[in-house]
Amino acid sequence: MSGLNPILAASAQSTEAYKQAIEQSSKAVVQWLQQPEMYQGKSVAELRERITLDFNPQGLGNQAAIERAVEFFLKDSLSVHHPQCVAHLHCPSLVVSQAAEVLINATNQSMDSWDQSPSATIIEMKLIEWLRSQVGYQAGDAGVFTSGGTQSNLMGLMLARDAFFARQGHSIQQDGLVGNLKKIKVFCSEHAHFSVQKNMALLGLGYQSVTLVKTDAFARMDVNDLREKLAQAKANGEQILAIVATAGTTDAGAIDPLRAIAGLAAEQQIWVHVDAAWGGALLLSERYRDYLDGIELVDSVTLDFHKQFFQTISCGAFLLKEARHYELMRYQAAYLNSEFDEAQGVPNLVSKSLQTTRRFDALKLWMGLEALGQKQYAQIIDHGVTLAQQVAHYVSEQPSLELVMQPQLASVLFRYRPTASTIADDAALALLNQRIGDALLDSGRANVGVTESGGVTCLKMTLLNPTVTLEDIKTLLALVESTGQALLAA
Ligand SMILES: Cc1ncc(COP(=O)(O)O)c(C=O)c1O
Repeated sequence: MSGLNPILAASAQSTEAYKQAIEQSSKAVVQWLQQPEMYQGKSVAELRERITLDFNPQGLGNQAAIERAVEFFLKDSLSVHHPQCVAHLHCPSLVVSQAAEVLINATNQSMDSWDQSPSATIIEMKLIEWLRSQVGYQAGDAGVFTSGGTQSNLMGLMLARDAFFARQGHSIQQDGLVGNLKKIKVFCSEHAHFSVQKNMALLGLGYQSVTLVKTDAFARMDVNDLREKLAQAKANGEQILAIVATAGTTDAGAIDPLRAIAGLAAEQQIWVHVDAAWGGALLLSERYRDYLDGIELVDSVTLDFHKQFFQTISCGAFLLKEARHYELMRYQAAYLNSEFDEAQGVPNLVSKSLQTTRRFDALKLWMGLEALGQKQYAQIIDHGVTLAQQVAHYVSEQPSLELVMQPQLASVLFRYRPTASTIADDAALALLNQRIGDALLDSGRANVGVTESGGVTCLKMTLLNPTVTLEDIKTLLALVESTGQALLAA
């Protein structure tokens, strides 16, 4: 670097270096986007061997650092925009989201206090108001952008826990956990995201606090089983801290019966948190908005924009029905959110977040809504849901493929099951499907998920990408079949 100032600032030297670095990087991205393979197919061992951290003590300079990032990172990255990249809830991103990242990164605003992010704070607060109106909550700004679903679920469970103890006259914030903690329970379906367990462990109540409710044939929470389990818990002297309903389970995309769950919880004054990390995208949908019927009744909601809202990672939100519950996590730091500032109406978002320094991820959603308009946004969300239905129909017509469950959102669960074959038993069939998934990734041609549904090991396509067509998926399914045949023949 030999004496150059490496900081982004107003000088001609700095702005020139900035432009060069961004141009070099974006050119490399454009080239990478043209790579025909979904993945270069290197193994764990190969990448470990290839990637070495031998930093040059003098520094290489920006240009060489970018070249090395292209060589060692970009070329061996997974092409999330590739039509055959369908394993996870991992979306390709909007072009405008890339532009937003440039602005977010260059300005480096921090969302904890107004004096570190003036316009950004106001934009985020207004977006939260708007999201609340989409959910059907009363006007207000209780909610905040988060790093994603896991953190939003943590906020919901933490506030549910603290409200539960507050009702008994105890402040968790001041005094910590007390009492017979083994008797405190959270209910969620057996298909709820694992972050419920992880978060309950973080919150000091352990995995043992999570009671799993049975699901129906479509992986949706069985409300009768919930009712019975709640009654049983009460009979056992247990206390119920919250019910977590899921709107869009990770594999099946199942949406729990939100209205019925909220009704049951209201009778017993139980906090309901809805994990709508995936299904929350339907808030914008014209065709499928009614799938979220009842979401407006619950106490808190997780939304995730780095799933079917096509934003770059990270971008999520937490919405809280009643602003008063934010008092439960209130902390006044003289340097960020002083009483003096608050008395003058200076807004701050640190009081609403688990994070202190925080990215302005809200800009991506704002620019996405501005650029696409709600109608086009709805179309690209609906595309995946509709495509999954078409793909499911196609799969069910193929003699060597078996549809494991009818799709509800944009995922299709299926398995390769050749009719005339020598597969000994279910375990062999499960292993074959697992090996198909592995072989596809190893070849670099496709990334298809391998998961389990109702005890059946199966393959999963998560069809978020709005540019993918039924023809693309037919090609992918042909690849699944030929890979299966090759594995059987070997
Ligand atoms: C239903 C559900 N909730 C929560 C999460 C966690 O979200 P994140 O990865 O953004 O933390 C996921 C992740 O896939 C999910 O599928």
